[in-house]
Amino acid sequence: MKLSLYQRLSLSLLLVFIVIFIVFYFWVVQLEQKTRYESKQRLHLSLAASLARDNPLLQQGVYDNTALSNLFHTLMVLGPSFEFYFLDPQGKIITHSIAPSLIKRQNVNLTPLIQLTQNQATLPVYGDDPQHLTRKKIFTTAPVFNGNVLQGYLYVIVASERYESAFSRLKSNNQTEISVVLVMGTIIFLFVLLLAIFAYFTRPLRRLNLDIQALKQVDFDKSKVKLTPWMANSSNEVHQLGYAFLQLIDQINEQFSLLQKSDSKRRELLADISHDLRTPLSSLQGYIETLSLNKDTLSEQQREKFIEIALKNAYQLKGLIDQLFELAHLEGGQVSVHLETFNLAEILHDVVAKFSLQIREKQLKITIKPERSLIQVNSDISKLERVLSNLIENSIRHTPANGEIELEITQLKNNQCQLKISDNGNGVKAEELPYIFDPRYRASNAMQDKQKHTGLGLAITKKLLEILNTEIHVESTFGKGTSFTFLLNNKPDA
Ligand SMILES: Nc1ncnc2c1ncn2[C@@H]1O[C@H](COP(=O)(O)OP(=O)(O)OP(=O)(O)O)[C@@H](O)[C@H]1O
Ligand SMILES: [Mg+2]
Repeated sequence: MKLSLYQRLSLSLLLVFIVIFIVFYFWVVQLEQKTRYESKQRLHLSLAASLARDNPLLQQGVYDNTALSNLFHTLMVLGPSFEFYFLDPQGKIITHSIAPSLIKRQNVNLTPLIQLTQNQATLPVYGDDPQHLTRKKIFTTAPVFNGNVLQGYLYVIVASERYESAFSRLKSNNQTEISVVLVMGTIIFLFVLLLAIFAYFTRPLRRLNLDIQALKQVDFDKSKVKLTPWMANSSNEVHQLGYAFLQLIDQINEQFSLLQKSDSKRRELLADISHDLRTPLSSLQGYIETLSLNKDTLSEQQREKFIEIALKNAYQLKGLIDQLFELAHLEGGQVSVHLETFNLAEILHDVVAKFSLQIREKQLKITIKPERSLIQVNSDISKLERVLSNLIENSIRHTPANGEIELEITQLKNNQCQLKISDNGNGVKAEELPYIFDPRYRASNAMQDKQKHTGLGLAITKKLLEILNTEIHVESTFGKGTSFTFLLNNKPDA
């Protein structure tokens, strides 16, 4: 059987109250008995003394035990709740009022008797019950003297009573009954009150549990269920917990959809790449097969043409595979950075020099601003060269003949300089601009040249700059031109 938190709390509370009730009941019974015995003993305190003083048989000491025994019998008939014993100075029972077969002990301990006669003990004082080996009862006693010589003790057991249940005894005492009823009433009231308080405080917890169960049934889709409006700034911890739980669900859902998106992107990328690889590969295979099957029939000129085309496809394949490897390597996160300080303008000149043929072919005007500068940067030369090559290669391809490309260095405060690569080429449409750094993305303005371009250059560039701890920004106006900017450190970071 599964119990809810509230049911378990109520059950524990019930158990606690039952224990309190039992303890209280026994305590009251004990107290009542003690009080009753005390008053009874106090009431009969002088009984034995007056008997010893007034009875002629005991006045001058005991000489006739049979007469005394008869006297005890007569007294017991008058007061059946009393038992009379006469003890010698050592506590030995000499004579008594009850049937001899009922006597279980011959001696009575005198200490409580002496304490009672000397008023040394607080009432009730219990003495040995001769009818039982261990039981003790309340009594009254008086020493019996012959002249000045102690002859023994008159020992009267007072509480020789019928058995009454503690409950009926309690009932018979009116005042006790009222107090017991009052206390019981208070206990029951407290119990009900605490149950109500528990119910009130555990209600938000029950609601949170219901919310969680409901969410579980709809795969944690918050839009499909009506949930309690949990408040973050409430002083109630359950509210805070509920709010945090819903936030957690949001975060998990968000990350899950991000994962799904990146997974589907990867699939797309893989499909595109397979296609890009397959096209040059099958063309390569086709030309080599033709060459091998028709080697005798092909003219020298045809053969050279086929080999040239096969080689072009092979270069294309290699270029693509190299780029893919580079991107995968950069994304793997195991890339080492070799920082050094060098002159930025010099590096720009070096990279531009690599493209001099294409620049000349297209009659482009390329300027480095300022042409000579002493600005030093602290970076990884080979990675920066790779970045610049990608950006300048793009600019050259997307800028029409006689166009302009500008590489501008600007010194900033706080140990940084900005590099801007801008062209007045065909530009990217605003709606396509956010995607140009995605792997395999080529915008509608994309230009082709002798080489095959697959849209990996900017993805590699962005990754490389991330590794160099900087971020690339792009601005572009369709038909007017594009500019890329990023920052570099002048000196090593402190
Ligand atoms: N300077 C530029 N001017 C206009 N469009 C550009 C420029 N640079 C990049 N783009 C656009 O962004 C797209 C992505 O550029 P990216 O360098 O990643 O690919 P790519 O140059 O087409 O191919 P790859 O770099 O793999 O050879 C290009 O296809 C192009 O549409
Ligand atoms: Mg490119």
